[in-house]
Amino acid sequence: ARHLLGIEPLSPSDITSILDLADSYVALNRRTIKRADALAGMTQINMFFENSTRTQASFELAGMRLGADVMNMSMAQSSLKKGETLIDTALTLNAMRPDLLVVRHPQSGAVNLLAEKVNCAVLNAGDGRHEHPTQALLDALTIRRAKGRLHRLTVAICGDIAHSRVARSNLLLLGKMESRLRLIGPATLMPAGAAELGCEVYEDMREGLQGADVVMMLRLQRERMDGGFIPSEREYYHRWGLNADKLACAAPDAIVMHPGPMNRGVEIDGTIADDINRSVIQDQVEMGVAVRMAAMDLLARNLRAERGLAAAGGQ
Ligand code: CP
Repeated sequence: ARHLLGIEPLSPSDITSILDLADSYVALNRRTIKRADALAGMTQINMFFENSTRTQASFELAGMRLGADVMNMSMAQSSLKKGETLIDTALTLNAMRPDLLVVRHPQSGAVNLLAEKVNCAVLNAGDGRHEHPTQALLDALTIRRAKGRLHRLTVAICGDIAHSRVARSNLLLLGKMESRLRLIGPATLMPAGAAELGCEVYEDMREGLQGADVVMMLRLQRERMDGGFIPSEREYYHRWGLNADKLACAAPDAIVMHPGPMNRGVEIDGTIADDINRSVIQDQVEMGVAVRMAAMDLLARNLRAERGLAAAGGQ
């Protein structure tokens, strides 16, 4: 494929190939000298129209470690503020001949639209409520390394599922890899048709966590909420916040995940988040760099093949 816009079009073997390559990049990233040349001579532009800490930093590091020339567009200072459209901005950057565009946008579908207009590879770094494919891939790599497999694991995703592109991409990926999926949260934050996705749906957290191997917590995404009942943070924490008492319902060796940014004392107790025996939150961040290296490496190979170039270093 030319682009990585979502998990939806990927097959289980595509997912396994990305994770296998990412595993090799985890090893590289643990060395003192973190250098490979898969993107040598290529230009990567990061365009983030929404705030990011983890995704932007890890895409930037991933590109640099693979030898790309990496530019972070400062979208707040761009001519979008003067009325230029997303498409005109993309066409302008496309004329500068980048090879990889990494795009985050608040509107679902905006990244797919942009991908139709440019000649380079586009990676979706999160679009509205739609998809966040590299997050799901890094989550899968984290789970696979902790549990040794993805199939026949019970994965409980808890919190604001309705507004979450992370949940959507994870449901698609984990479903393809034959994990057993449970969704836990207030009915008002559950997407329509959740049960049809093959998930078990629970409002009671203790019930939903029974025997779970993986507990994935999500924050309340207030920036995407348009009215509707939202419980107070205090009430939310009481019913759906993860603490030691509720975690005791999961399997004794269950891992705790959170994509970040995390709101301690709202969806998760800080002591659980920091418990290195249960929490893999920092592993997720580490896997993020490796997965983004793997994704860009594979897209760069496809670009070279499309352009009829030899493996690395073609004109
Ligand atoms: N998980 C995630 O997408 O985090 P950022 O918003 O910090 O990139």
